[in-house]
Amino acid sequence: MRILVVGSGGREHALIWKLKQESPDAQIYAAPGNGGTKALAESVPLKPDEVDELADFADSRDIDLTVVGPEAPLVAGIVDAFEERGLKIFGPTARAAEIEGSKAFAKALMKKAGVPSAGHETFSEFDEAEKYIRKHGAPLVVKASGLAAGKGSIVCESVEEAVEAAQSMMVDEKFGDAGATIVVEDFLAGEELSLLYLTDGENAVPLVPSQDHKPIGEGDTGLNTGGMGAYAPVSIADDALVGVVTDEIILPTLAALRDDDRTFRGVLYAGLILVDGDPYVIEFNCRFGDPETQAVLPLMQEGLLDVFVGLAGGGDLDVDRFRFRGGAAVCTVLASKGYPGSYEKGKRITIPKGLEDDDELIVLHAGTRRDPEGKLVTSGGRVLGVVGLGADVTAAAARSREGAEAIKFPGKYFRRDIGYREIDREAAG
Ligand code: AMP
Ligand code: GLY
Repeated sequence: MRILVVGSGGREHALIWKLKQESPDAQIYAAPGNGGTKALAESVPLKPDEVDELADFADSRDIDLTVVGPEAPLVAGIVDAFEERGLKIFGPTARAAEIEGSKAFAKALMKKAGVPSAGHETFSEFDEAEKYIRKHGAPLVVKASGLAAGKGSIVCESVEEAVEAAQSMMVDEKFGDAGATIVVEDFLAGEELSLLYLTDGENAVPLVPSQDHKPIGEGDTGLNTGGMGAYAPVSIADDALVGVVTDEIILPTLAALRDDDRTFRGVLYAGLILVDGDPYVIEFNCRFGDPETQAVLPLMQEGLLDVFVGLAGGGDLDVDRFRFRGGAAVCTVLASKGYPGSYEKGKRITIPKGLEDDDELIVLHAGTRRDPEGKLVTSGGRVLGVVGLGADVTAAAARSREGAEAIKFPGKYFRRDIGYREIDREAAG
């Protein structure tokens, strides 16, 4: 079997690692991949937004299955383009992916479907947004409606901050066209949760619940990043809560999408906030989460490839094929000094030999590449994800931290507290 994985981050390395585990004989290509995917997949020098070139490649190499990591190509219509050419690809069409591509659309859809989410208003005129913000009062969350690489949501504790955020998006065009329309949301306080569902547009199966750690600093302080770590499972997301999310959030959302001729096939990611135990949607994503995927996939025993193949081939979701192994996983992200601000690249990375030999540690690459001499160097803000496995989150986190300490590169920064909420819960018994 020949598989093409589109993307270059830790999520894509995790997908490739998992697919290779399920199908060791598969020939996997990564477009473009990174310094770590090279061991498992042949690198193809194409970027995720080069949709036509990717389709040409898939066509010429008889690719049996394409899996897309990032949102931008999905929103841009990579699935539509592949399907038009009869190429098998796993993921939602552009119309379905709009659930991530336009927050204004997602909020309107949720309202229509009766899905709980923060109160909001949508604006495309700055004066009106400012009037609303001043009348409403703080705290508020100001969000660019379009894709902004995870940086388009600003939690504002004062009215002035919110007005400034709206101005930066709508007047100063900080996120280009993505900020021409904004959503202003009520602030919700509570613990966050990521629930990823595989779906054929009608039925949906949840993967293991996980939690991301977005802020750069320990104790969730400082600027938001693309994610400094994640863990799974999350004990507060018990079967009862997941059932509520499935019945009251996911299935109604899928039905509303179908009604609008936007049948969603692929991974639907619900970013939730628990307010007094009740789940509210903060955002929907049309793809696997990063870094949640790095913690979630190692907990799955088998069946992912079968589901991808089935859904890419136009079939229904085969729920019976899922198996989860027990235990827990913690992914600690190693970042470059300065991230999420500016940082230097090209730093030599040393991974001790034998670090991954005990089956309880997996090193997944994100911002790495091989220099002309073949040496591994940093090439991004988030450099590596170190996944520790264990009987519980406390044990998995300890293993992940050990691995994170052992890997060296100049300017290495990481949070030592990934999973702290769950570790506190485990300590409390
Ligand atoms: P988003 O880009 O919508 O995923 O938001 C990024 C982050 O901003 C989330 O992970 C939350 O921490 C925070 N956030 C977004 N919306 C809200 C909200 N309505 N209330 C509180 N925090 C929010
Ligand atoms: N971990 C957040 C995201 O993938 O959007």
